Amino acid sequence: MKRIYLFLTMICLCGGIIAQQNQYELVVNTKKTGAEIQPTMYGIFFEDINFGADGGLYAELVKNRSFEFPQKLMGWNIFGNVELRSEGGPFERNPHYVRLSYSGHAHKHTGLENEGFRGIGIKKNATYRFSVWGRTSSSSSPQKIRIELIDAENNPFESKELEITSGEWKQYEIILTSPKEEPKATLRIFLLSEGPLDLEHISLFPTDTWKGRKNGLRKDLAEALSDLNPGLFRFPGGCIIEGTDLETRYDWKKSVGPVENRPLNENRWHYTFAHRLFPDYFQTYGMGFYELFLLAEDMGAEPLPVVNVGLACQYQNDGEHCHVPVGELGDYIQDALDLIEFANGSPTTPWGKVRAEMGHPEPFNMKFIGIGNEQWGPEYPVRLEKFIEAIRAQYPEIKIIGSAGPQAEGKDFEYLWPEMKRLKVDLVDEHYYRPPQWFLDNAARYDSYDRNGPKVFAGEYASHHTTRANNFESALTEASFMTGLERNADIVHMATYAPLLAHVDAWQWRPDLIWFDNLRMVRTPNYYVQQLYGHHAGTNVLPITWNNAPLTGQEGLYASSVIDKNKKEIIIKLSNVSEEERALSIRLDGLEKKMQLHQQVEVISLSAEMDAVNSLDNPAVVLPQSAYQSMQRNSLQLTVAPNSFNVVIIDYSN
Ligand code: AHR
Repeated sequence: MKRIYLFLTMICLCGGIIAQQNQYELVVNTKKTGAEIQPTMYGIFFEDINFGADGGLYAELVKNRSFEFPQKLMGWNIFGNVELRSEGGPFERNPHYVRLSYSGHAHKHTGLENEGFRGIGIKKNATYRFSVWGRTSSSSSPQKIRIELIDAENNPFESKELEITSGEWKQYEIILTSPKEEPKATLRIFLLSEGPLDLEHISLFPTDTWKGRKNGLRKDLAEALSDLNPGLFRFPGGCIIEGTDLETRYDWKKSVGPVENRPLNENRWHYTFAHRLFPDYFQTYGMGFYELFLLAEDMGAEPLPVVNVGLACQYQNDGEHCHVPVGELGDYIQDALDLIEFANGSPTTPWGKVRAEMGHPEPFNMKFIGIGNEQWGPEYPVRLEKFIEAIRAQYPEIKIIGSAGPQAEGKDFEYLWPEMKRLKVDLVDEHYYRPPQWFLDNAARYDSYDRNGPKVFAGEYASHHTTRANNFESALTEASFMTGLERNADIVHMATYAPLLAHVDAWQWRPDLIWFDNLRMVRTPNYYVQQLYGHHAGTNVLPITWNNAPLTGQEGLYASSVIDKNKKEIIIKLSNVSEEERALSIRLDGLEKKMQLHQQVEVISLSAEMDAVNSLDNPAVVLPQSAYQSMQRNSLQLTVAPNSFNVVIIDYSN
C-alpha cells in the first residue's frame, strides 16, 4: 500500500513539474533582430522641485546668499549693527549686500547667521570652501571676520578668521575643516574688528563636489544620477519652464555667465500646493544651463533642454491675455535659437563665446530641443509652429519635441497628437502619473501606435500608489510597463521617470526617484528599475513570445528582450506581478549552434513585499540581487519569484 502511495505521489509531483515547465514556454527569436534601441532610450528628467537644485543637487549650502529674496534677510539672523544696502554693490543684477558696523559696545557683537536649507549638512573631516565678496568701507584699514560652524546645540565646532583687506570689492575665501558630523549646522559670521565692512554673495560649498568643481554639484546625488547610465538628460523641468506667469518662467539666459550676477527667480513650487507651502524656495540659477549641459556631458547623456513656448502655466493662467501674443513671439523664438548657439556655436559667435568664457570652448553637441512643457489647446500649436519654422530654417539638424499635454489620453491628448503630426515635430512628449494598475493595463499601449508619425518621448511618468510611496508595487508596475516601451523601441525613443529628486524635509511632490536629507540619500526601488533598464538597454529589440504573442500581462507576466551587439549579450526583462512563482522555459531560437552546452547566465532580480520601501535609515530593503544559473545550449529553465522583476543576461560571445 505504502509503495503504491509513493508511486502515485511521484507521478503527481513529476506531472506537476512537467505541467509547470510546459506551461510557460517563452521563445526569443534571435534571428529577427528588430528596431534599434536609441541611445537616448532611458534617461533622466531634472526639475528644481522638492529642493532638487537649490538645497539639493546644487552643492551651495547658504540660502539667500545674495540677499535677493523678496524678504531680503530671509534665511539670515542678524545681530548687532547690520544694515542691508543696495547702492554700490558689485553685481548689478543682485544689488543687495550687508554692511557690518561696530555694535556700540565692546561686549556686544555684530554679525549674521545663515540657517542653510533646512540646516547645513556638514561631514566629519570634510573641508568646506567659505567665500565672500567684501570690501572695507570708508576706512582703509583691514577688517576681520570670524567664520564659525555651529551645531544644533549652538556650539561652534569649527572657526577660522578672515581678513578683508581692500576698499574695492574682491572675493575672499577660506577653507573650513570639520572635526565632526552635523546634519543641521548653522553658519555664523562675526565682525571681529570695528567695521564698517561690506559683504555680498556669502557662500559655502563642500570642496568635494562632483568632479571637484567650484560652484559644483553635491557628489553623492550626482553620482547616483550618473550610476543610472542615462542616455538622455532633460532639463530644467517641468512646470518651472512655464512659470506661474511669464515673468517667472525659467529664463536660460539669466542662468549663465558669472554666478554672482545671475538674478534670482521665484520657484513656482514654493506656493503651487497651499498644503505644502515653502516660502523660502527660490531659484538662484546657480546651477544653470551651463552646469546642466556639463552634467549631461559628464554622464554621457544627450542634453535635452526645454524652453518656454510663450505660454505661462496653463493650469494657473486662463485666457490669451496671460500669454505672449502669437505675433510677439520674436524674443522667445530668439531665446531658443540662441540656446542652440550657446550649446553648439563656435566661440566666435556671441553665445558660443559665453559658453567658451565659462570654460567650455568645445560645443556640447546638443541634438534635441523641447518647445513647451505640458501645453494644451489651440494656443499651443499656433505658437509651436512659429518656433518650428525658425529652428528648421536655421538648424535643420536639431530634433524638435512637442507636447501631448498633461494627460495620457482624453480630449487634449487626442487633439494634440494629430496637431503634432501636422507640424511634423520629431518626437511627442507624453506624461502619465497614474495608478499602478494603469501601468499594467498599458503595457501594450504602443503596440498599436501609428508607425508613420513622430516618435514618442515618455517624458514624465511614475506609478502613483494611493499612499504616494515609492514602494515596490510602484516600481514593479513601472518595470512591467517599460517592457512595452522597449518592445516598441521603433517608435519610443526616450523615456524619463519624474520627478527625480526630493529633500525629505522640503518636498512638494511625491513619489520621486531619489530622496535625500542634508547628508544622506536613498535610491528607491523605482531607481533600481530605471538603473536596470539603463545598464541593460541593448542595441536592438528581439521578439519574445509566449504562444506566439508578446507577454503583456498574461498570467501576470510581462517581458521584452533585446540583443546587445557590442557586448554580445541577449537580455531578457521579465516581470511577474502574480502571487505565484512561475517556472519558465526560455528558448533562444537561432542560437543553437553558437551557445555552449552548459553556460552560466546572470539573473538580476528585484523582489520584495509590495509595500516595501527604502528609506534613509533603511536604504537596502529593496535591492537588486544577482545570481548565476546554468543554461543548456539555447534553453534556459528559470523560475521567477512572485512579484518580481528580473533581468536575464545571456552572453553569446563564445
Ligand atoms: O514632475 C512634476 C510636474 O508634473 C512637472 O513639473 C510638470 O510638467 C508635471 O505636471
